Amino acid sequence: MRVSDFRSDTVTKPTEKMRIAMREAVVGDDVLGDDPTVKELERLAAEKIGKEAALFVPSGTMGNAIAVKVWTDEGDEVIVEEKSHIYNFESGHLAFISRVIPRPLPSKRGAYDIGLLKKAVNKRKDYHVPQPTLITLENTHNFWGGAVVPLEHFRAVREVADSRGIRVHLDGARIFNASVASGIPAREYARYVDSVMFCLSKGLGAPIGSILAGPKEFIEKARWVRKMLGGGMRQVGVIAAAGIVALGMIDRLKDDHRRAKELARGLSKVPGIRINPEEVETNIIFLKVDDAKSVVQKLKEYGVLALAISDEDIRMVTHKDIDDEDVNRAIWAFKKIFS
Ligand SMILES: Cc1ncc(COP(=O)(O)O)c(C=O)c1O
Repeated sequence: MRVSDFRSDTVTKPTEKMRIAMREAVVGDDVLGDDPTVKELERLAAEKIGKEAALFVPSGTMGNAIAVKVWTDEGDEVIVEEKSHIYNFESGHLAFISRVIPRPLPSKRGAYDIGLLKKAVNKRKDYHVPQPTLITLENTHNFWGGAVVPLEHFRAVREVADSRGIRVHLDGARIFNASVASGIPAREYARYVDSVMFCLSKGLGAPIGSILAGPKEFIEKARWVRKMLGGGMRQVGVIAAAGIVALGMIDRLKDDHRRAKELARGLSKVPGIRINPEEVETNIIFLKVDDAKSVVQKLKEYGVLALAISDEDIRMVTHKDIDDEDVNRAIWAFKKIFS
């Protein structure tokens, strides 16, 4: 039976073009700075995101962890959005690796309340009070259902950060989804942050890898921290080659967005499912049902995979390996379950 896997955009298989590029990649020991394919990927990535330099890292989590480690000292405070990936789903590296204190703030679909943000950064300078040195943003915002955080918000956050000499890091795992949905180049969002991480292994379809980008000096320090964390990789051009192909696949994200919208529209007509298709901006949809676990189990029997992320929330994600037929099958399966 064909399986329609909506669990995540990380489940994609490499394209034929990626596999050929991987086979033919010219490689060397990247820890010694000898891998021309990695260098080419880092050059292209820095150019695309509009930063001075870039570093190839094994995962988005490692990219975010390195950024926090480079920008902060132990005991600093880091402002995070309360539903953000960096705070909730990266196994606590803020505490474990950087020994910083996260300060979660609420948001409207990933955009902080600027009044609250100002209050959070304008802390009393006092030995008792941990001082914030970093603000993090996430775009698109995964647990706000792939919401696009507006560019004006980036400007506003930058202003607040500058008022106290604070750094801003963007978890841009899906920044190209934000860019395709808004029509704003990714480098425009990146302009307002000091560093940005983006993933090659999500909507762009590469099997492994993310990019951390920022000023040259930051990336030099990041290279050092990557090695400490065991992320220095040797003939890794075999993987970087797929990343180079992935950077050429940004345009196709619009198909994922169209399919997510169609899926959401179809599901909104099924009694028993609560979803607002108007809120679906990119490739992630969240829907509410009475018993998420049992619905996901039944979907599996119809060859449709989704994630139950709480007792009543289901997350579904469209990606390169989901086509129109998969979307139709998913709607059909939900109709069967709720009929
Ligand atoms: C918003 C966001 N940031 C970071 C990550 C971490 O990426 P990785 O799974 O490559 O560690 C993810 C992964 O799903 C994510 O959705």
